[in-house]
Amino acid sequence: MAQRGTFITFEGVEGAGKTTQVQRLAAVLGPDVVRTREPGGTPIAERIRDIFLTSDGITIMTELLLLAAARAQHVDEVIRPALEANQIVICDRFTDATVAYQGSRGGIDLELIHHLNRVATGGLTPDLTFILDLSPEIGLQRQQTGETHRDRLDREPLERHRKVREGYLSAAKADPDRVKLIDAAQSPDAVHAAILTEYQKYLSQ
Ligand code: TMP
Repeated sequence: MAQRGTFITFEGVEGAGKTTQVQRLAAVLGPDVVRTREPGGTPIAERIRDIFLTSDGITIMTELLLLAAARAQHVDEVIRPALEANQIVICDRFTDATVAYQGSRGGIDLELIHHLNRVATGGLTPDLTFILDLSPEIGLQRQQTGETHRDRLDREPLERHRKVREGYLSAAKADPDRVKLIDAAQSPDAVHAAILTEYQKYLSQ
């Protein structure tokens, strides 16, 4: 791609506050920002999301392949065209979620995950990724006191959520130029300010 927009992704354990922070950054960046999410973001990928989130007894390999299918559709239909039109895209979860959830939590080999991610995205990677880092105990507590609907993955044992966090921390370590860890135990205002600071740094590079 010769010229393209900016691709920003948000990641984090359940209850880390991604939805709020995606909304707040999008509000700052203006009305032309494309906001989307994974799994999902297109009608077909949203149908896959539904199967993914509601199927008890699904195997970890089926999870991985469903996510890759949803991602391929999403990248081709929404993300790549928007970037080619020079727009800013903010996506709530993307390839790092697969490293954390299907890799660290699910035990699938990271080489396979990276390979499938490359196949599904056609090699597209985010320009900037915010991982909202939070202990899963606090995240799950926030969810229970909030109004969020709890899905199949939210209800998993704490140990699985801990693995997700570890996976995200190692994803941040592996690619520090792209992936910025943000302390999500702070107030929403402080988290937003930290995100804006990192975004300004990215712009001035
Ligand atoms: P959400 O809670 O952010 O809407 O995401 C839905 C769930 O999908 C969440 O529990 C994390 C999970 N997920 C994966 O397991 N792997 C992935 O690659 C993605 C994108 C999401």
